[in-house]
Amino acid sequence: MMEDLNDSCKLQQEVKINFATKVVHAGQSPADQQSPFKDVVPPISLSTTFKQLAPNEHAGFKYSLCGNPIKKVLQDCVASLDGGKHCLTFSSGLGATTALMYLLKTGDHILCGDDVYGGTANIFKNFVNQFGVKLTMTDFTNEQIVEKMILPETKLIWLESPTNPLMRISNLETISKIAHNIRNDIVVVIDNTFQTPYFQKPLDLGVDVVLYSLTKYLNGHSDVIMGALVINDTELHDRLAYIQCSYGIGSSPFDCYLVNRGLKTLHLRMKEHMKNGLAVARFLEQHRLVEKVLHPGLPSHPQHRMAVRQCSGFGGMLSFYIKGGLLEAIRFLKALRVFCVAVSLGGTESLAYHPALMSHADVPLEERLALNITDNLIRLSVGLESEDDIIADLDQALQASIIGNN
Ligand SMILES: Cc1ncc(COP(=O)(O)O)c(C=O)c1O
Repeated sequence: MMEDLNDSCKLQQEVKINFATKVVHAGQSPADQQSPFKDVVPPISLSTTFKQLAPNEHAGFKYSLCGNPIKKVLQDCVASLDGGKHCLTFSSGLGATTALMYLLKTGDHILCGDDVYGGTANIFKNFVNQFGVKLTMTDFTNEQIVEKMILPETKLIWLESPTNPLMRISNLETISKIAHNIRNDIVVVIDNTFQTPYFQKPLDLGVDVVLYSLTKYLNGHSDVIMGALVINDTELHDRLAYIQCSYGIGSSPFDCYLVNRGLKTLHLRMKEHMKNGLAVARFLEQHRLVEKVLHPGLPSHPQHRMAVRQCSGFGGMLSFYIKGGLLEAIRFLKALRVFCVAVSLGGTESLAYHPALMSHADVPLEERLALNITDNLIRLSVGLESEDDIIADLDQALQASIIGNN
Protein backbone atom coordinates (compact mmCIF):
# COMPACT_ATOMS: atom_id res chain seq x y z
CA MET A 1 0.00 0.00 0.00
CA MET A 2 2.73 2.47 1.02
CA GLU A 3 4.76 1.56 -2.05
CA ASP A 4 1.65 2.39 -4.12
CA LEU A 5 1.18 5.73 -2.38
CA ASN A 6 4.80 6.57 -2.92
CA ASP A 7 4.65 5.90 -6.61
CA SER A 8 4.26 9.36 -8.11
CA CYS A 9 3.07 8.05 -11.47
CA LYS A 10 0.26 6.15 -9.81
CA LEU A 11 -0.55 9.28 -7.78
CA GLN A 12 -0.94 11.31 -10.95
CA GLN A 13 -3.35 8.77 -12.40
CA GLU A 14 -5.28 7.95 -9.23
CA VAL A 15 -8.05 10.53 -9.05
CA LYS A 16 -9.10 9.46 -5.56
CA ILE A 17 -5.83 10.46 -3.90
CA ASN A 18 -6.58 13.37 -1.58
CA PHE A 19 -4.91 16.77 -1.59
CA ALA A 20 -3.11 16.21 1.74
CA THR A 21 -1.51 13.02 0.42
CA LYS A 22 -0.50 14.69 -2.84
CA VAL A 23 1.33 17.61 -1.17
CA VAL A 24 3.39 15.09 0.78
CA HIS A 25 4.03 12.43 -1.87
CA ALA A 26 3.25 13.50 -5.45
CA GLY A 27 6.31 13.56 -7.67
CA GLN A 28 8.68 12.35 -4.97
CA SER A 29 8.68 8.61 -4.68
CA PRO A 30 11.97 7.27 -3.25
CA ALA A 31 11.51 4.40 -5.69
CA ASP A 32 11.61 6.83 -8.66
CA GLN A 33 14.75 8.59 -7.57
CA GLN A 34 18.05 8.43 -9.35
CA SER A 35 19.88 8.57 -5.98
CA PRO A 36 21.18 5.09 -4.99
CA PHE A 37 20.05 5.73 -1.37
CA LYS A 38 16.37 6.19 -2.21
CA ASP A 39 16.10 9.24 0.07
CA VAL A 40 12.68 9.82 1.66
CA VAL A 41 13.21 13.57 1.23
CA PRO A 42 14.18 14.27 -2.40
CA PRO A 43 17.83 15.40 -2.51
CA ILE A 44 19.15 18.54 -4.23
CA SER A 45 21.62 18.14 -7.05
CA LEU A 46 23.53 21.41 -7.36
CA SER A 47 25.32 20.31 -10.51
CA THR A 48 24.69 22.75 -13.35
CA THR A 49 25.44 20.12 -15.99
CA PHE A 50 24.95 16.36 -16.41
CA LYS A 51 27.22 13.79 -18.05
CA GLN A 52 26.04 12.59 -21.45
CA LEU A 53 26.88 8.98 -22.36
CA ALA A 54 27.22 10.04 -25.98
CA PRO A 55 26.36 13.39 -27.60
CA ASN A 56 22.71 14.09 -26.74
CA GLU A 57 22.33 10.74 -24.95
CA HIS A 58 21.57 11.56 -21.33
CA ALA A 59 19.85 10.25 -18.21
CA GLY A 60 17.03 12.83 -18.22
CA PHE A 61 18.80 16.14 -17.63
CA LYS A 62 21.34 18.09 -19.69
CA TYR A 63 21.70 21.57 -18.19
CA SER A 64 20.20 22.63 -14.86
CA LEU A 65 18.59 25.83 -16.18
CA CYS A 66 16.28 23.71 -18.33
CA GLY A 67 15.71 20.82 -15.93
CA ASN A 68 17.19 19.20 -12.85
CA PRO A 69 16.02 16.44 -10.48
CA ILE A 70 14.54 18.55 -7.66
CA LYS A 71 12.86 20.93 -10.12
CA LYS A 72 11.17 17.92 -11.72
CA VAL A 73 9.96 16.78 -8.28
CA LEU A 74 8.45 20.20 -7.53
CA GLN A 75 6.94 20.62 -10.99
CA ASP A 76 5.30 17.17 -10.84
CA CYS A 77 3.93 17.88 -7.37
CA VAL A 78 2.45 21.31 -8.25
CA ALA A 79 0.92 19.90 -11.48
CA SER A 80 -0.79 17.14 -9.52
CA LEU A 81 -2.25 19.61 -6.97
CA ASP A 82 -4.04 21.45 -9.78
CA GLY A 83 -5.00 18.22 -11.57
CA GLY A 84 -2.82 19.40 -14.48
CA LYS A 85 -0.60 17.44 -16.83
CA HIS A 86 2.41 19.78 -16.74
CA CYS A 87 4.03 22.41 -14.54
CA LEU A 88 6.97 24.71 -15.25
CA THR A 89 8.73 26.71 -12.53
CA PHE A 90 10.28 30.16 -13.08
CA SER A 91 12.62 32.54 -11.28
CA SER A 92 9.57 34.48 -9.96
CA GLY A 93 5.84 34.89 -10.46
CA LEU A 94 6.61 37.78 -12.79
CA GLY A 95 9.10 35.53 -14.62
CA ALA A 96 6.20 33.15 -15.28
CA THR A 97 4.14 36.11 -16.60
CA THR A 98 7.03 37.15 -18.85
CA ALA A 99 7.17 33.62 -20.30
CA LEU A 100 3.50 33.90 -21.30
CA MET A 101 4.15 37.28 -22.93
CA TYR A 102 6.64 35.62 -25.28
CA LEU A 103 3.76 33.64 -26.79
CA LEU A 104 2.59 36.95 -28.32
CA LYS A 105 3.65 38.91 -31.37
CA THR A 106 3.16 42.52 -32.45
CA GLY A 107 -0.55 43.32 -32.93
CA ASP A 108 -1.81 40.57 -30.61
CA HIS A 109 -4.30 41.66 -27.96
CA ILE A 110 -4.39 41.00 -24.20
CA LEU A 111 -7.69 41.38 -22.34
CA CYS A 112 -7.45 41.60 -18.56
CA GLY A 113 -9.18 42.89 -15.45
CA ASP A 114 -8.76 46.53 -14.48
CA ASP A 115 -7.26 45.78 -11.07
CA VAL A 116 -4.82 42.94 -11.75
CA TYR A 117 -1.64 42.86 -9.65
CA GLY A 118 0.39 46.02 -10.41
CA GLY A 119 3.54 44.12 -11.49
CA THR A 120 1.50 42.15 -14.04
CA ALA A 121 -0.06 45.34 -15.42
CA ASN A 122 3.44 46.86 -15.72
CA ILE A 123 4.69 43.94 -17.84
CA PHE A 124 1.63 44.24 -20.09
CA LYS A 125 2.13 48.01 -20.49
CA ASN A 126 5.83 47.53 -21.31
CA PHE A 127 4.95 45.04 -24.04
CA VAL A 128 2.43 47.56 -25.40
CA ASN A 129 5.04 50.33 -25.48
CA GLN A 130 8.00 48.31 -26.73
CA PHE A 131 6.54 45.57 -28.93
CA GLY A 132 3.19 46.95 -30.19
CA VAL A 133 1.02 44.47 -28.28
CA LYS A 134 -2.55 45.75 -27.65
CA LEU A 135 -4.11 45.81 -24.19
CA THR A 136 -7.64 46.31 -22.82
CA MET A 137 -8.20 46.46 -19.07
CA THR A 138 -11.84 46.21 -18.08
CA ASP A 139 -14.31 45.13 -15.40
CA PHE A 140 -13.99 41.34 -15.16
CA THR A 141 -16.84 41.00 -12.65
CA ASN A 142 -19.18 41.44 -15.64
CA GLU A 143 -18.97 38.65 -18.26
CA GLN A 144 -21.02 40.57 -20.85
CA ILE A 145 -18.44 43.37 -20.80
CA VAL A 146 -15.63 40.83 -21.16
CA GLU A 147 -17.37 39.21 -24.15
CA LYS A 148 -17.79 42.58 -25.91
CA MET A 149 -14.09 43.38 -25.46
CA ILE A 150 -12.78 40.24 -27.21
CA LEU A 151 -11.22 41.23 -30.54
CA PRO A 152 -10.16 39.13 -33.55
CA GLU A 153 -6.57 39.76 -32.35
CA THR A 154 -7.21 38.65 -28.75
CA LYS A 155 -4.68 35.95 -27.85
CA LEU A 156 -4.54 36.16 -24.07
CA ILE A 157 -7.32 36.61 -21.51
CA TRP A 158 -5.92 37.24 -18.03
CA LEU A 159 -7.93 36.63 -14.89
CA GLU A 160 -7.23 37.25 -11.26
CA SER A 161 -9.87 36.10 -8.79
CA PRO A 162 -9.89 37.44 -6.13
CA THR A 163 -8.04 40.51 -7.38
CA ASN A 164 -5.23 42.22 -5.56
CA PRO A 165 -6.05 44.39 -3.55
CA LEU A 166 -9.81 44.84 -4.20
CA MET A 167 -10.79 41.17 -3.78
CA ARG A 168 -13.13 41.18 -6.80
CA ILE A 169 -14.30 37.82 -8.14
CA SER A 170 -14.64 36.77 -11.80
CA ASN A 171 -16.68 33.86 -13.12
CA LEU A 172 -13.89 31.57 -14.37
CA GLU A 173 -16.12 28.99 -16.05
CA THR A 174 -18.29 31.48 -17.96
CA ILE A 175 -15.38 33.62 -19.10
CA SER A 176 -13.41 30.56 -20.27
CA LYS A 177 -16.46 29.27 -22.18
CA ILE A 178 -17.09 32.66 -23.81
CA ALA A 179 -13.44 32.90 -24.90
CA HIS A 180 -13.20 29.36 -26.26
CA ASN A 181 -16.56 29.62 -28.06
CA ILE A 182 -15.27 32.69 -29.88
CA ARG A 183 -11.91 31.13 -30.75
CA ASN A 184 -10.16 28.03 -29.53
CA ASP A 185 -6.68 29.54 -29.72
CA ILE A 186 -7.37 32.21 -27.07
CA VAL A 187 -5.28 31.28 -24.05
CA VAL A 188 -7.18 31.91 -20.81
CA VAL A 189 -4.81 32.43 -17.88
CA ILE A 190 -5.57 32.87 -14.20
CA ASP A 191 -3.26 34.14 -11.51
CA ASN A 192 -4.34 31.75 -8.73
CA THR A 193 -1.78 33.03 -6.21
CA PHE A 194 -4.36 34.16 -3.61
CA GLN A 195 -6.49 31.01 -3.72
CA THR A 196 -3.89 28.26 -4.26
CA PRO A 197 -4.96 24.86 -5.66
CA TYR A 198 -6.24 24.01 -2.17
CA PHE A 199 -9.21 26.35 -2.56
CA GLN A 200 -9.62 26.83 -6.32
CA LYS A 201 -8.98 24.47 -9.28
CA PRO A 202 -9.20 26.65 -12.42
CA LEU A 203 -8.30 23.90 -14.93
CA ASP A 204 -11.50 22.09 -13.92
CA LEU A 205 -13.43 25.26 -14.82
CA GLY A 206 -11.98 25.51 -18.34
CA VAL A 207 -9.00 27.83 -17.78
CA ASP A 208 -5.94 26.94 -19.92
CA VAL A 209 -3.04 28.08 -17.76
CA VAL A 210 -2.77 28.59 -13.99
CA LEU A 211 -0.08 30.97 -12.77
CA TYR A 212 1.36 31.05 -9.25
CA SER A 213 3.70 33.33 -7.47
CA LEU A 214 5.15 30.40 -5.46
CA THR A 215 6.76 33.15 -3.39
CA LYS A 216 3.44 33.44 -1.57
CA TYR A 217 1.24 30.66 -0.09
CA LEU A 218 2.69 27.64 -1.89
CA ASN A 219 6.13 28.16 -0.36
CA GLY A 220 4.50 29.92 2.56
CA HIS A 221 7.56 30.95 4.57
CA SER A 222 8.56 34.26 2.92
CA ASP A 223 12.03 33.00 2.05
CA VAL A 224 11.93 32.13 -1.67
CA ILE A 225 11.01 34.07 -4.82
CA MET A 226 9.63 31.72 -7.49
CA GLY A 227 6.74 31.29 -9.93
CA ALA A 228 4.98 28.47 -11.77
CA LEU A 229 2.63 27.74 -14.65
CA VAL A 230 0.33 24.70 -14.71
CA ILE A 231 -0.87 23.63 -18.15
CA ASN A 232 -2.84 20.71 -19.61
CA ASP A 233 -2.13 21.25 -23.31
CA THR A 234 1.13 19.52 -24.20
CA GLU A 235 1.88 21.68 -27.25
CA LEU A 236 1.45 24.86 -25.17
CA HIS A 237 3.61 23.34 -22.44
CA ASP A 238 6.37 22.58 -24.95
CA ARG A 239 6.36 26.18 -26.25
CA LEU A 240 6.55 27.54 -22.68
CA ALA A 241 9.27 25.03 -21.70
CA TYR A 242 11.33 26.30 -24.64
CA ILE A 243 10.80 29.91 -23.46
CA GLN A 244 11.67 28.99 -19.84
CA CYS A 245 14.96 27.50 -20.93
CA SER A 246 16.01 29.70 -23.84
CA TYR A 247 15.18 33.01 -22.10
CA GLY A 248 17.00 31.92 -18.93
CA ILE A 249 14.08 32.41 -16.52
CA GLY A 250 14.06 29.01 -14.81
CA SER A 251 14.40 28.38 -11.06
CA SER A 252 17.38 27.25 -8.97
CA PRO A 253 17.64 23.75 -7.39
CA PHE A 254 17.95 25.17 -3.88
CA ASP A 255 14.82 27.30 -4.26
CA CYS A 256 12.91 24.30 -5.66
CA TYR A 257 13.98 22.28 -2.62
CA LEU A 258 12.67 24.95 -0.24
CA VAL A 259 9.34 25.35 -2.03
CA ASN A 260 8.87 21.57 -2.09
CA ARG A 261 9.45 21.54 1.68
CA GLY A 262 7.01 24.42 2.28
CA LEU A 263 4.39 22.82 0.06
CA LYS A 264 4.04 19.79 2.34
CA THR A 265 2.02 21.81 4.87
CA LEU A 266 0.00 23.85 2.33
CA HIS A 267 -3.37 22.28 3.25
CA LEU A 268 -2.81 22.81 7.00
CA ARG A 269 -1.65 26.39 6.55
CA MET A 270 -4.51 27.31 4.21
CA LYS A 271 -7.14 26.02 6.66
CA GLU A 272 -5.64 28.18 9.40
CA HIS A 273 -5.21 31.21 7.10
CA MET A 274 -8.91 30.87 6.22
CA LYS A 275 -9.99 30.62 9.85
CA ASN A 276 -7.91 33.64 10.93
CA GLY A 277 -8.79 35.64 7.79
CA LEU A 278 -12.52 35.17 8.27
CA ALA A 279 -12.28 35.95 11.98
CA VAL A 280 -10.49 39.21 11.14
CA ALA A 281 -12.99 40.08 8.39
CA ARG A 282 -15.94 39.56 10.75
CA PHE A 283 -14.24 41.51 13.53
CA LEU A 284 -13.45 44.45 11.26
CA GLU A 285 -16.90 44.47 9.69
CA GLN A 286 -18.56 45.27 13.02
CA HIS A 287 -15.87 47.73 14.21
CA ARG A 288 -16.97 51.35 14.62
CA LEU A 289 -13.67 52.64 13.14
CA VAL A 290 -13.97 50.62 9.92
CA GLU A 291 -15.93 51.85 6.92
CA LYS A 292 -16.05 48.68 4.77
CA VAL A 293 -14.42 45.23 4.54
CA LEU A 294 -13.59 43.42 1.27
CA HIS A 295 -13.49 39.63 1.79
CA PRO A 296 -15.29 37.24 -0.61
CA GLY A 297 -16.25 34.97 2.31
CA LEU A 298 -18.47 37.68 3.82
CA PRO A 299 -22.13 37.70 2.71
CA SER A 300 -21.73 41.49 2.22
CA HIS A 301 -19.22 40.92 -0.62
CA PRO A 302 -20.97 41.67 -3.97
CA GLN A 303 -19.82 38.37 -5.54
CA HIS A 304 -20.05 36.24 -2.39
CA ARG A 305 -22.49 33.70 -3.86
CA MET A 306 -20.43 33.16 -6.98
CA ALA A 307 -17.25 32.94 -4.88
CA VAL A 308 -18.61 30.14 -2.71
CA ARG A 309 -19.85 28.27 -5.81
CA GLN A 310 -16.51 28.54 -7.57
CA CYS A 311 -14.09 27.73 -4.77
CA SER A 312 -14.01 25.72 -1.58
CA GLY A 313 -12.62 28.47 0.67
CA PHE A 314 -10.39 31.54 0.94
CA GLY A 315 -6.91 32.31 2.21
CA GLY A 316 -5.90 35.03 4.63
CA MET A 317 -6.20 37.97 2.23
CA LEU A 318 -8.59 40.86 2.77
CA SER A 319 -8.72 44.60 2.41
CA PHE A 320 -10.64 47.24 4.34
CA TYR A 321 -11.35 50.95 4.35
CA ILE A 322 -10.51 52.53 7.68
CA LYS A 323 -12.72 55.46 8.81
CA GLY A 324 -10.90 58.68 7.99
CA GLY A 325 -8.15 59.25 5.43
CA LEU A 326 -4.41 59.06 4.97
CA LEU A 327 -3.63 60.27 8.50
CA GLU A 328 -5.75 57.59 10.17
CA ALA A 329 -4.40 54.87 7.85
CA ILE A 330 -0.80 55.79 8.64
CA ARG A 331 -1.46 56.02 12.39
CA PHE A 332 -3.09 52.57 12.24
CA LEU A 333 -0.20 51.00 10.31
CA LYS A 334 2.45 52.52 12.60
CA ALA A 335 0.64 51.26 15.71
CA LEU A 336 0.56 47.58 14.60
CA ARG A 337 2.67 45.19 16.71
CA VAL A 338 1.80 41.64 15.62
CA PHE A 339 1.34 42.70 11.98
CA CYS A 340 4.42 43.87 10.10
CA VAL A 341 4.05 46.64 7.52
CA ALA A 342 5.53 45.07 4.38
CA VAL A 343 4.74 44.12 0.79
CA SER A 344 4.07 40.49 -0.25
CA LEU A 345 1.68 37.99 1.31
CA GLY A 346 0.99 34.37 2.07
CA GLY A 347 3.65 33.73 4.72
CA THR A 348 3.23 32.54 8.29
CA GLU A 349 3.47 36.12 9.59
CA SER A 350 0.68 38.70 9.35
CA LEU A 351 1.48 41.62 7.04
CA ALA A 352 -0.29 44.91 6.39
CA TYR A 353 0.20 47.33 3.55
CA HIS A 354 -1.09 50.57 2.13
CA PRO A 355 -1.81 50.19 -1.62
CA ALA A 356 -2.00 53.95 -2.36
CA LEU A 357 1.47 54.64 -0.91
CA MET A 358 3.08 51.29 -1.76
CA SER A 359 1.98 49.12 -4.75
CA HIS A 360 -0.02 51.89 -6.48
CA ALA A 361 2.23 54.87 -5.69
CA ASP A 362 3.02 55.31 -9.42
CA VAL A 363 -0.59 54.99 -10.61
CA PRO A 364 -2.05 58.42 -11.57
CA LEU A 365 -4.44 59.72 -8.89
CA GLU A 366 -7.59 59.73 -11.10
CA GLU A 367 -6.91 56.13 -12.20
CA ARG A 368 -6.35 55.04 -8.60
CA LEU A 369 -9.51 56.75 -7.36
CA ALA A 370 -11.57 55.33 -10.23
CA LEU A 371 -10.57 51.87 -8.95
CA ASN A 372 -11.49 52.81 -5.34
CA ILE A 373 -7.88 52.54 -4.22
CA THR A 374 -8.28 55.46 -1.85
CA ASP A 375 -5.97 56.73 0.92
CA ASN A 376 -7.98 54.85 3.58
CA LEU A 377 -7.64 51.41 1.91
CA ILE A 378 -5.48 48.89 3.77
CA ARG A 379 -4.65 45.33 2.66
CA LEU A 380 -3.95 42.54 5.16
CA SER A 381 -2.31 39.16 4.71
CA VAL A 382 -3.51 37.39 7.84
CA GLY A 383 -0.89 34.94 9.09
CA LEU A 384 -0.80 31.95 11.41
CA GLU A 385 -0.37 33.68 14.78
CA SER A 386 -3.06 33.25 17.45
CA GLU A 387 -6.44 34.58 16.28
CA ASP A 388 -6.89 36.39 19.61
CA ASP A 389 -3.52 38.14 19.36
CA ILE A 390 -4.15 39.16 15.74
CA ILE A 391 -7.54 40.66 16.58
CA ALA A 392 -6.26 42.39 19.73
CA ASP A 393 -3.49 43.96 17.64
CA LEU A 394 -5.93 45.26 15.02
CA ASP A 395 -8.21 46.61 17.75
CA GLN A 396 -5.46 48.56 19.52
CA ALA A 397 -4.14 49.92 16.19
CA LEU A 398 -7.66 51.05 15.19
CA GLN A 399 -7.99 52.85 18.54
CA ALA A 400 -4.58 54.47 17.91
CA SER A 401 -5.76 55.70 14.46
CA ILE A 402 -8.04 58.30 16.10
CA ILE A 403 -5.74 59.48 18.87
CA GLY A 404 -5.15 63.16 18.19
CA ASN A 405 -8.49 63.60 16.37
CA ASN A 406 -10.93 65.78 18.25
C1 LIG B 1 -1.26 38.19 -7.16
C2 LIG B 1 0.20 38.24 -7.49
N1 LIG B 1 0.65 37.69 -8.63
C3 LIG B 1 1.95 37.71 -8.97
C4 LIG B 1 2.90 38.33 -8.16
C5 LIG B 1 4.34 38.36 -8.60
O1 LIG B 1 5.04 37.36 -7.93
P1 LIG B 1 6.62 37.42 -7.67
O2 LIG B 1 6.86 38.48 -6.64
O3 LIG B 1 6.94 36.04 -7.23
O4 LIG B 1 7.26 37.77 -8.97
C6 LIG B 1 2.49 38.91 -6.97
C7 LIG B 1 3.46 39.58 -6.10
O5 LIG B 1 3.13 40.22 -5.13
C8 LIG B 1 1.10 38.87 -6.61
O6 LIG B 1 0.64 39.45 -5.50
